[in-house]
Amino acid sequence: MAENKKQMMLGLAMFGVPGLSFKSWSDPKINFEKYPDLSYDIKAAQLAEKGKFQFMFFGDFPATKETDNANAQSMGVDPLLIATVIAHNTKHIGMAITKATSWNSVYEIARQFKSLDAISNGRAAWNAVTGANGVSASAYGVKLSPSFDRYGKAYEFTEAVQTLWGTWGEDALKLDKENKVFADYDEVESVSIKGKYVESTGTLPIPPSKQGQPVIFHSGGSGNSIAYAGKYANAMIGEVWTIEQGRETRNALRQTAVENGRDPDEIKFIAGVMPLIGDTKKDALERHSQFIDEQTFYQRVAQIGYALGVQFTMADIDKPIDPEILDNVVVTPYSDPRIENIIKVAREGWTLRYVIYHSVIDYHPAAVGTAEDIADYLTEWFEQGGADGFWVMPNVYEVDLPRFVDEVVPILQERGIFHEDYEGDTLRENFGIPYQYGLKKEEK
Ligand SMILES: Cc1cc2nc3c(=O)[nH]c(=O)nc-3n(C[C@H](O)[C@H](O)[C@H](O)COP(=O)(O)O)c2cc1C
Repeated sequence: MAENKKQMMLGLAMFGVPGLSFKSWSDPKINFEKYPDLSYDIKAAQLAEKGKFQFMFFGDFPATKETDNANAQSMGVDPLLIATVIAHNTKHIGMAITKATSWNSVYEIARQFKSLDAISNGRAAWNAVTGANGVSASAYGVKLSPSFDRYGKAYEFTEAVQTLWGTWGEDALKLDKENKVFADYDEVESVSIKGKYVESTGTLPIPPSKQGQPVIFHSGGSGNSIAYAGKYANAMIGEVWTIEQGRETRNALRQTAVENGRDPDEIKFIAGVMPLIGDTKKDALERHSQFIDEQTFYQRVAQIGYALGVQFTMADIDKPIDPEILDNVVVTPYSDPRIENIIKVAREGWTLRYVIYHSVIDYHPAAVGTAEDIADYLTEWFEQGGADGFWVMPNVYEVDLPRFVDEVVPILQERGIFHEDYEGDTLRENFGIPYQYGLKKEEK
């Protein structure tokens, strides 16, 4: 393995079901009758740790609506509780959990995340999102504000959380049995935070972890989101479909970090990828096809037609897309951001059905093929500056994750772009970012 090459980050995406496909739970290859038993999540975490993934990423959509009943991703147990169980069943992997600033309480977030960080010996991250989900906001009895206010609150919220994290002095815990001193309360601070959006008065009685305090992650993509992440986050969980889009976001983030007096290498841009692994490309596509139900399939026929500027009929489904249609597409800044992937796959000559099986219309791009193909995809993105790492979304953890861990990871390690082992015990060490405790001096 080449020494000192830059290393990519890998995170396993978790949404509380046995894989990232909405239909993962129905895979005949698995037995999923015990939901919501956490043994599935623990198994997935241990597999990801076997593959030396630096972190797991938990989304959080706390409420659901009746029409979501086919959508298992929007259900689920609170991910912070799942992560606590995972912390006790793993040793190295980090846990980044999403919690929104728009409807949660500052003190609760500070307390829960510092607890997880302490319990896990420094492996926690808070994925601080503003949250734009009306169903969740209503469940918490909150009205969603426009973006400007949501981010205004997110800034105050984050600084308040970090301030609370620093209130217990780093050396305050004494556990001095002889003198019967649990802690030196002269080293514990009480704060009074009164902002436009958040308030908290008091102290958070939890000692530091081995990494000080949780790492901050962020998910989003708007200008406001990049400005927030460039100031506070060490990782941004992104949503981009091409290397060029990834490079643009990554550069913007790095630039914003510099403007905030930070080292740009302290913020990692993490792109999403759905690895569809098979013995051949066709095999991978056919396995994936079982997770696309009829309704979704026909929605995608219409969406691809709309993106290409044509209306497909049933007669078009098992034929390659006419190259003339592809030649006539005019890509503008207002086009579907997935348009380039649709055209690229269609030009390979696949039928419309198989173009859809490539998941060209999905929340994230898919890497399709053998383990070598998947490794090539990740290598290209990484080496061309499209991402510092990936949040990996296997269809079904039990079936598709072992293939990623046993077949794709060794290729990346062989190429010297993914670590052979964990660099340290904490998430900060494995992310190559410094210890932090409390609000950074320049933010005080
Ligand atoms: C990759 C990604 C993951 C996200 N995960 C969540 C989530 O788990 N829970 C949530 O409430 N919002 C989530 N969001 C939504 C963001 O919180 C935010 O509301 C949305 O990106 C709109 O942001 P904007 O106001 O910057 O446009 C996610 C967004 C992205 C891009």
